[in-house]
Amino acid sequence: MATLKSSQKLSSEIVVLGLASKDGKLVVEVADSGLYAKTFLPALEEVGATGSREEIIKIPTDSASHHRLVIFTGLGEAAKNSEYPHEILRRAAGAAVRALAGKTNADFALPHKSVQNFAAIAEGVALGAYSFDTHRGASKASQKKPLGTATIISHLSDESSTKSTVRRAMLLAKYVHLVRDLVNTPANHLSPSIFVTKMKSMAAGLSVKIEVLDEKALKTKGYGGIYSVGQGSANPPRLLHISYSPAKPKKRFAFVGKGITFDTGGYALKPAAGMDAMKTDMAGAASVIAATLAIAELKLPVSVHAYACLAENMISENATRPGDVITTLSGKTVEVLNPDAEGRLVMADGLTRAVADAEKSGGLDGLIDVATLTGAQIIALGIRTAGLMSNNEAFTEEFLNVAKSTGELFWPMPLPEELRATLDTPVADIANVGDKSGGMLVAGVFLKEFVPPTTPWLHLDIAGPSYTEKTGHGYSPVGGTGITVRSLVALAESAVSHP
Ligand code: BES
Ligand code: MN
Ligand code: ZN
Repeated sequence: MATLKSSQKLSSEIVVLGLASKDGKLVVEVADSGLYAKTFLPALEEVGATGSREEIIKIPTDSASHHRLVIFTGLGEAAKNSEYPHEILRRAAGAAVRALAGKTNADFALPHKSVQNFAAIAEGVALGAYSFDTHRGASKASQKKPLGTATIISHLSDESSTKSTVRRAMLLAKYVHLVRDLVNTPANHLSPSIFVTKMKSMAAGLSVKIEVLDEKALKTKGYGGIYSVGQGSANPPRLLHISYSPAKPKKRFAFVGKGITFDTGGYALKPAAGMDAMKTDMAGAASVIAATLAIAELKLPVSVHAYACLAENMISENATRPGDVITTLSGKTVEVLNPDAEGRLVMADGLTRAVADAEKSGGLDGLIDVATLTGAQIIALGIRTAGLMSNNEAFTEEFLNVAKSTGELFWPMPLPEELRATLDTPVADIANVGDKSGGMLVAGVFLKEFVPPTTPWLHLDIAGPSYTEKTGHGYSPVGGTGITVRSLVALAESAVSHP
């Protein structure tokens, strides 16, 4: 979206209003109470509107109205005092903005009293205004562009904090959209080295440091996990390290992301049907880098080291064979029984490196890894809720609390001790696969081996929620979602308010 602003007054020919239901009756919910409240009810009844969530009703108006088009976005059950939960508003605004693709401007007159709910509407609008047409040719011109300008109608529009709330929503959307772009980009246009180049250009102008290890450096410095996953590909692996180190940071975080630019499964080759989705296997790496750039752009007083573990998991005469034993950066040897369990191999090196860097500079308040790690995550929690595993209850609680304010969904899962033995092997320190049951947890238990128990650590498995396969919902269109960016930024922001 080109512009997002706020005003007290309606000015566009298109206006978005809320629609709820109470005791079987429709309730029009608007920012400026009184306005429109009754006028449209007969028309809404006529078209069979229900006010349910995700419902979009478009009603063209006659010349008697100032508006050419009124769009009603469903809010579900009517809320007390017309003050809705923030995520309801975020999604309703997002669903409406997606329905406005191709239009130049619109007013959003959705109900809200608090600044938090104003922010949620602004975020929903900014996040929903997205399209991906980079790789269209002849059909590009016929693709509708996202809504050009959105005005949030609000009694808060003249408050001094409103401008920065709007700016923050735009900034978050910029970095969420960056992740979506990378996730949606086909793997022949996004190798590990192209990922690095793109992120370097996004980082230009921000006060961050960038370090890149190429395949030679990875090999000589002992990154056996990343190297072995990438060795079968003509597009060699990389480790991208971006750090943001403001003076006197209130907290120190490290983020590690899985950046498999394509996952064929290697010699545990995946079936062709559906394999195309494995271009999204770098969502974790994209998220941690994007969140770090957002934190740097917001100039938050926390230090962040982000590591993108980049490799393409291919088959060739150079690829890792089932049964190969590799030596990770930690010194631990791993028997690669299944080359399709590659994420945990690259992440092991990323975690070791993050911890080693932190030991040189005062330790970590939190280490978070983000990975599209297991199909088992999708079986366990579905496509909207990410799995969270940890070695630290307080950090888990802190993160879940912060994430609640974003609408991103995470659910705590255990790391059962007894699963560790299923990773035992007679030939190496650990095998890369164990029990099939509880596959998400087994992967977490594997990663835990590479994190000191004294480091507060979270493992976020986003295999399902990083990508929307069939139809968009709320502020998430089809394709990459950008999940975790906003929670990681919110964690950094909360370190400022609760140091
Ligand atoms: N990238 C996949 C996990 C995945 C599956 C992400 C579906 C998104 C959608 C990962 O590398 C993988 O292949 N995991 C294996 C692990 C198994 C071999 C232990 C899996 O989940 O089947
Ligand atoms: Mn795999
Ligand atoms: Zn993978």
